[in-house]
Amino acid sequence: MSTHTISPARFDAGALQQAVDGVIEEFLAQKAQAADSHMAHLVGLLAEFGAGGKRIRPLLAVTGWQAASGLPADESVVRVAASLEMFHSFALIHDDVMDDSDTRRGHPTIHRTLANHQRDSRAERFGRSGAILLGDLALTWSDEILFTAGLTPAQLGTVLPLVTEMRTEVMRGQYLDLRATGELHDDVDATLDVIRYKTAKYTIERPLHIGAALAGAGDDVMAACTAYALPLGEAFQLRDDLLGVYGNEQDTGKSRLDDLREGKNTTLVALALRASDGAQSALLHTLIGDPFLDESGAEEVRAVFEATGAREAVERMIDDRYWEALRALDTAPFTAEATTTLKYLARKATRRNS
Ligand code: IPE
Ligand code: IPE
Ligand code: MG
Ligand code: MG
Repeated sequence: MSTHTISPARFDAGALQQAVDGVIEEFLAQKAQAADSHMAHLVGLLAEFGAGGKRIRPLLAVTGWQAASGLPADESVVRVAASLEMFHSFALIHDDVMDDSDTRRGHPTIHRTLANHQRDSRAERFGRSGAILLGDLALTWSDEILFTAGLTPAQLGTVLPLVTEMRTEVMRGQYLDLRATGELHDDVDATLDVIRYKTAKYTIERPLHIGAALAGAGDDVMAACTAYALPLGEAFQLRDDLLGVYGNEQDTGKSRLDDLREGKNTTLVALALRASDGAQSALLHTLIGDPFLDESGAEEVRAVFEATGAREAVERMIDDRYWEALRALDTAPFTAEATTTLKYLARKATRRNS
């Protein structure tokens, strides 16, 4: 087996991404070798799906390790980081079924691709069911990558409860997200609760915790990870919500009508409802959640987001949270190198266009 150690004197996102991708490619190549043609097809879909994506969770897991240990990431740390990326594939494949999204990372979503393989009336159902199964495979294989990472019993003892916690949290968040979809309301705090769980914890906080736990980090390091991660994770999803309405589809690889058509009660929507007059509120209630909304309808919604100041307010919330995350680093007991990396990642996570 090749090794995927990365030992940069300084943080090198490209090298880490290559190392993580190497673990996943090798793992899936082995699965393909042992597979019949049906399984090989699924493995191929998963490999293609995994190409693309910012790899933010593995980057954070390795940074968590470095923050607590000051050591380069060895093969076992890289494998744990790769298992988080495989878990992320599961989360996205299922998310696209739940959100009825057609496009992800610039390609048709898994359920769309599978549906396109069938020509009869069962195509839609086959696509969704197949995507559920492929997501389940990714979840199962994220476990396998983790369990074969070569962790010590002590490391497994601290990491496994965090992995379970992360999974439970994201599923709670996704459930709350579904509950709030199609029923618009202006409860901004409720929207923030959703994004803390569906995104902030599993994207930023838990990957950092998991990396730090591998290094045997104490409570002070864990608490500092949280102080940085929760505001940053909220900002990350708030940016995603803006990109979901205003982003360039070439950059995001996702539709900018999905959230509106689905009737997602994002923070942006809640803020707009809170500040709207009767006519604006009626327009939002009519157009958001309309499954046939087109670009001109979306433009009307965007105009209300702007007229009510909601778009600007979300930008301010992102900025506030970005600075809160940076302030948390001032007193964090992390290595200097990890602190520099976390500053860089905070910027990337909040100023992104994809
Ligand atoms: C998308 O996550 C889902 C959210 C939590 C917003 P990313 O923005 O990290 O997606 P990829 O992996 O880069 O495609
Ligand atoms: C992000 O969900 C959270 C997870 C995938 C777990 P969204 O539905 O807001 O993200 P995108 O915009 O589809 O990536
Ligand atoms: Mg989605
Ligand atoms: Mg979703």
